[in-house]
Amino acid sequence: MSDMSPTTIDFDTVTGASEAADPLTRTLKSLDGYFYDADAFSAAMAEDDALIYEYFDMGVPETSGNVAYGTTSIKPGKVGDEYFMTKGHFHTVLDTAEVYYCLSGHGGMMMETPEGKVEWREMKKGDVVYVPGRWAHRSINISATEPFVMFFAFPGHAGHDYGTIATKGFRKLMVERDGKPTMVDNPRWNG
Ligand SMILES: [Fe+2]
Repeated sequence: MSDMSPTTIDFDTVTGASEAADPLTRTLKSLDGYFYDADAFSAAMAEDDALIYEYFDMGVPETSGNVAYGTTSIKPGKVGDEYFMTKGHFHTVLDTAEVYYCLSGHGGMMMETPEGKVEWREMKKGDVVYVPGRWAHRSINISATEPFVMFFAFPGHAGHDYGTIATKGFRKLMVERDGKPTMVDNPRWNG
């Protein structure tokens, strides 16, 4: 089949990658500095460097003609009262979008622009969130029991800028207050 394809990648390589790929994992330790409650983070680390999330990247070439895609699964849990979440990022090519489709669980997408607009979109199975270009995005699991699993796709050349969020954080956080997911200002925001 590949000899019929004009693309830069072998068709069978891309479509078969899902069977071969190992998940990339992020444990609590790799999220040091991301949760607002540093004491709760230290207490959690003393117990266990728990798995927070994992994702499968299908290894599509990072060129503008390709669509990078994969799945991500965020475990249920909290550090203090803040729900488990991904690090979150801007795209290096800022004006590139991304689509997320919820496969299972209950969570949401925290988004913000460099200028300070903020959007939170709650997601359950079958919900889609379109993250427009320029918006940083972080996935958050607000279920107490279930993993939050999503399919994602974005332009191959988008790239990932993790540094801006690592330095500044997001303006808003999702925490449990009175037993409910609640969006609050990030007391450690460093913009
Ligand atoms: Fe992204």
